[in-house]
Amino acid sequence: MNMPNYFIWTIGCQMNKAESQKVADFLENSGYQPADSMQKADLVIINTCVVRQSAETKVLGMLGYLKGMKNHQPDLSILVTGCFVDSNIKQLQKNFPHVDLFFRPSGYSELLSWLDSQTAHVPKQIKPASVQNPHVTAFVPIVQGCNNFCSYCIVPYRRGREKSRQIDEVVCEVTGLTKHGVKEVTLLGQNVNSYGKDLPSQPSLGDLLVNLNGISGLLRIRFLTNHPKDMSQQLIESVACLDKVCRHINLPLQAGSDHILKAMRRDYTLEQYRQLVASIRKYIPDVALSTDIIVGFPDESQEQFEQTLAALKDIRFDTVHVAAYSLRSGTTASREYEDNTPPEIKKERLNKVEEVQTEIAAEINAELNGKSVQVLVEGKKDGKCYGRTRSNKLVFFKSHENCLGRLVDVTILKTSPWSLQGHPTS
Ligand code: SAH
Ligand code: SF4
Ligand code: F3S
Repeated sequence: MNMPNYFIWTIGCQMNKAESQKVADFLENSGYQPADSMQKADLVIINTCVVRQSAETKVLGMLGYLKGMKNHQPDLSILVTGCFVDSNIKQLQKNFPHVDLFFRPSGYSELLSWLDSQTAHVPKQIKPASVQNPHVTAFVPIVQGCNNFCSYCIVPYRRGREKSRQIDEVVCEVTGLTKHGVKEVTLLGQNVNSYGKDLPSQPSLGDLLVNLNGISGLLRIRFLTNHPKDMSQQLIESVACLDKVCRHINLPLQAGSDHILKAMRRDYTLEQYRQLVASIRKYIPDVALSTDIIVGFPDESQEQFEQTLAALKDIRFDTVHVAAYSLRSGTTASREYEDNTPPEIKKERLNKVEEVQTEIAAEINAELNGKSVQVLVEGKKDGKCYGRTRSNKLVFFKSHENCLGRLVDVTILKTSPWSLQGHPTS
């Protein structure tokens, strides 16, 4: 009998990527093998995102495509997970009868029951997450869900309340990953700064970092995403003194106007944010900062938008992820405000942020010209090795050696706003 094939389609954030990897591990433990393409698969899993309408539209398009595929291939099984799956699974099943199973993000018990019910495949022992297909880097979720309810955001409604994993469990998973060749882990949570608050002994993210820093074989630790209202001084000091923790902090600002920040329910002012950045830069002078910005929030005036631009020019982030406000039904912003910034103004503001940021990133990266940086090599593309610095800069360089998973010193010869090129010196 041929082994059944699976294909996973994933969109959305790193949390979805981590969860797709875990789903792949479960499937392979149940006798499935990866298919080369969706068209060749017996089982298709789609891992979805609905953070903005554009993502949800892609999901609906994929569901339509799969309906057509199933018409021609009635034995095809279709499973849907990720943030498209809300609590009303009955309604989803009614709307999309061609889907065999909807399961909530990290609802692995439903997935396992479904796999059990497929009598042809007998589940074997489940191995720790992400061990089967290891890479140099891996994502490790440490806290699921979010308690913040920023007014625009759908995530807490789809991922539920914060739930942290025990320190021992995370340490055990990361130790297992390093035994399979992983050198860098990125710890994930919607708000990693609230890690541990729901656990009996209330450990902090700083405590977790101390434990992970001691794992031999592990070279680097990253973590995402921070919330400015919850980022503690203890965490900043831990990052500063732990050698494996990378000098890169993602700190979403969202807007430069205090009025808009209040309407977003972010719980900090621009001045508080600036003070936090000043403290981070004082303790970690070589830190790289990235941020998220939303333009065109309801009632955002030109002046308020310019406050965002001014903040970007003043703080000078290494990377900015910008999105146009998208109304998400069910959120408080969808009830309280009209989505009244015209699409062309949103687009114009988005382009302006990108233009300003491209210039800033070009200047920041140009300062690295001629300098030596340490790169953890993650792969090879078009004959060049690539990897990232501790400050998360993408670097390409030519090498005849197989340096995958190694730390290589590279002298930078050319820079752009998005990546660096150089030659190895070690
Ligand atoms: N927990 C993280 C990330 C959440 S979603 C945080 O607090 O920042 C990732 C990003 O998507 C957010 O930072 C925000 O910039 C953007 N986003 C979320 N909801 C949005 C919406 N309704 N419209 C536009 N962008 C949105
Ligand atoms: Fe959404 Fe805010 Fe939670 Fe981030 S912190 S996931 S933006 S509600
Ligand atoms: Fe999208 Fe859910 Fe992540 S909405 S951004 S997949 S938490």
